[in-house]
Amino acid sequence: MDLPDPHTRRGFLGIAAATSAALLAGGCRRNDAPGAPRGKNNSEGKAPRSFPSDFMWGTATAACQIEGASAIDGKGPSIWDAYSRKPGAIDGGDTPEVACDFYHRFPDDVKLMQELGVNHFRFSISWPRVLPEGTGSINPKGLDFYKRLVDTLLAAGITPHATLYHWDLPQVLQDRYTGWQNRRVVDDFGAYASLLGKHLGDRIRNWMTLNEISSFTRGAYGVGKPGAMAPGISLASERERNQVVHHALLAHGTACMALRGSCPQTPRISIAENYSPFVPVLDDPTGVDAACKAFRRENGGILMPILTGSYDPGWMEDHRDSLPEMRPGDMELIHQPLDALGSNCYTGRYVRPAATPMGYELIPWSPKFPVAGTSWLHIVPESMYWAIRLVSDAAGRKDLPVFISENGCADSFEPDSSGLVADIDRIMYYRSYLTELTRALDEGFRVKGFFAWSLLDNFEWAKGYSQRFGLVRVDYPTYRRIPKLSFGWYRGVIRSNRIV
Ligand code: BGC
Repeated sequence: MDLPDPHTRRGFLGIAAATSAALLAGGCRRNDAPGAPRGKNNSEGKAPRSFPSDFMWGTATAACQIEGASAIDGKGPSIWDAYSRKPGAIDGGDTPEVACDFYHRFPDDVKLMQELGVNHFRFSISWPRVLPEGTGSINPKGLDFYKRLVDTLLAAGITPHATLYHWDLPQVLQDRYTGWQNRRVVDDFGAYASLLGKHLGDRIRNWMTLNEISSFTRGAYGVGKPGAMAPGISLASERERNQVVHHALLAHGTACMALRGSCPQTPRISIAENYSPFVPVLDDPTGVDAACKAFRRENGGILMPILTGSYDPGWMEDHRDSLPEMRPGDMELIHQPLDALGSNCYTGRYVRPAATPMGYELIPWSPKFPVAGTSWLHIVPESMYWAIRLVSDAAGRKDLPVFISENGCADSFEPDSSGLVADIDRIMYYRSYLTELTRALDEGFRVKGFFAWSLLDNFEWAKGYSQRFGLVRVDYPTYRRIPKLSFGWYRGVIRSNRIV
């Protein structure tokens, strides 16, 4: 199948090929033995498995998953409010209507954060709470909620990090023009970002544009069958699905520009992406080379355009019959300068060199491979190290500071007779992933912080309240907060600034 505008496609392939050549010249091929010190080795004089003194320790959350108050104080419905009312869409028929009731309980939750010892907090802003109509007039009570939250955080010595979009599109935009399927969303998102920059940019410096583009585009839009996330749409073709992704990429770029133009103080802008880290099975240069190749190609439709301004040529080859429509200037808009990259790092894939056209092969999972409380979460601690290293090696962005914007796992323990969740598996999970993070630090990579997902058990999307990712248990009938064993463990790590 050809693109409607062959000129656009040729131009596009040309840019991508040039970038690819540059990356090949300066990227993976240059790789040396794995584990060799890279760049400035900062391990000298550093205690084993310790973190820099200015390392950001935080927890991460999202509006729709914790706030509740879904129709209170003028908030408009989001696509998740609507989707959760569809029979069978969410486990147990759960909805985000009350969630953790963070909207009313946040002052106590900020105290919990202080007890935990985190000095950074990642939260998202609900677009339909601030703009119930998606565009136009601000809901003053909605904006005021975020002002109060941020002021409470700042007074507690906790730095706010705001995500503009963590999947809760105003339902009105879905109804008006099919939401992310329509390019109109890009301008509307830009206007929303400008407004937040203008009204909250005096107190928030750290911004993330979008959370996990692949989840709210590819995860929500199926081809020939509905996606399993809101709005749960079935599209006719892969090309339409890639178009939805392209709009999200444009929205990211537009929001970067909007924030830079509207914040009263210079913003620090990043994006939280769940790009795939690839772990070489072979600890030799051929193994590393295979991981680099997989990283570019498999992340070639989202992360690579953000970081390099081009879709990856290998990815384009894989999608040659389904490339999105691109207009002149699109790739420049997508490729905005970033102050840092947020990595939502939960799991990874093992890869080995292979005599395939791609030069690598992904190792399939065995059904018995250990998972952390939920079927998709294969335990791959090395993914933490490779998520950091491959951005540098494969994407050619050695300059870019990285932080872990999310990492965590679901409970497999129930409360004991005293009500405590002794979640030793979560502690094991965090400890092994954080140990891999210190490996990256020891090799000189610019890792700036770690945000545990999540502070509280919360509305886990299509799984409803059946899966619990919190360091703190939420007793849903009473909304009481009960710190789990991992809460005390994380506090100890933060205090000593190391893994013992
Ligand atoms: C998402 C969170 C989600 C977590 C656990 C991440 O991909 O950003 O919203 O709760 O995974 O599934």
